[in-house]
Amino acid sequence: MLKNKKLAVIGVGKLGEALISGLLKRNAVEASDVTGSVAHEPSISRVKERLNINVTLDNCEAIKGKDVILLAVKPQNMDRVLKEISSSVKPDQLVISVAASVTTSFVEERLPDGIPVVRAMPNTPSVINAGMAGLCAGANASEDHKSMAEAIFKCVGETVFVDESLMDGVTALSASGPAYLYVVIESLAEAGVKLGISRETSTLLAAQTMLGSAKMILDSKQHPAMLKDMVTTPAGCTIDGLMELEEGKLRVTLIKAVVKAAERARELVNTQTSKFSK
Ligand SMILES: NC(=O)c1ccc[n+]([C@@H]2O[C@H](COP(=O)([O-])OP(=O)(O)OC[C@H]3O[C@@H](n4cnc5c(N)ncnc54)[C@H](OP(=O)(O)O)[C@@H]3O)[C@@H](O)[C@H]2O)c1
Repeated sequence: MLKNKKLAVIGVGKLGEALISGLLKRNAVEASDVTGSVAHEPSISRVKERLNINVTLDNCEAIKGKDVILLAVKPQNMDRVLKEISSSVKPDQLVISVAASVTTSFVEERLPDGIPVVRAMPNTPSVINAGMAGLCAGANASEDHKSMAEAIFKCVGETVFVDESLMDGVTALSASGPAYLYVVIESLAEAGVKLGISRETSTLLAAQTMLGSAKMILDSKQHPAMLKDMVTTPAGCTIDGLMELEEGKLRVTLIKAVVKAAERARELVNTQTSKFSK
């Protein structure tokens, strides 16, 4: 799908670099077909060194003749960048934005009529090709545009299309999610330390257990409760541990954490949209 496609990445920071690196590793695109842009001169050599792609400070130059324009600047820079490139964007180019809390209509309103836009919310494990990206299509994006965007994020992990109204939920669950799960791993490792296991070994035990449990759910497609029951022998030790988790309200705490983060993402949409529009 991406073969011979030319890609511009506006803002080759942490996320832009992770995506380009994933695409290059998979041979999904040629390095010579990718142009990145950055804000500061010293960043040019950083990007060239790491990715061996064309890099420029000129966003309009970067998008010239490209099939896909991926916007990976911070949300607060989106308004400026969109206004800057607006007169250079052509209707046959697909614009993909990964900026948190920036809606497809925000992007569409700042570009000429009819430009196809897809919004994506990836997460940091994209760096190691284990990412999860939620995607939604703007008003002018066709099935082909959606497939193109999907192909890009599939190079660094899994993808799912959702209604745009659910993107705050995706942000709170899978984009913020690694932070919650790091806390869970850290806590399990602390427990290992309390029981006399070295920190290094405890962290390995906890992290590999998290990885294996997630893989069991994805590979077996069984409900997590079924898999939990398989570990829980009657009158064994796991049920005692589970009772402690119930008493500590782990489930409701996690639910409330994601709901709260989604509310915050929604607030950011409102404050950022009004701020950017000034
Ligand atoms: N990091 C994540 O886990 C994650 C997850 C989901 C979504 N996102 C979204 O991805 C976007 C980028 O995040 P990040 O963490 O990669 O940020 P970052 O590391 O700060 O990267 C931003 C990049 O944008 C460049 N830039 C700034 N202004 C520019 C301009 N006017 N023209 C061209 N390039 C410009 C910067 O250039 P210099 O290097 O020269 O300063 C930098 O390379 C954000 O909108 C964020 O919401 C990030």
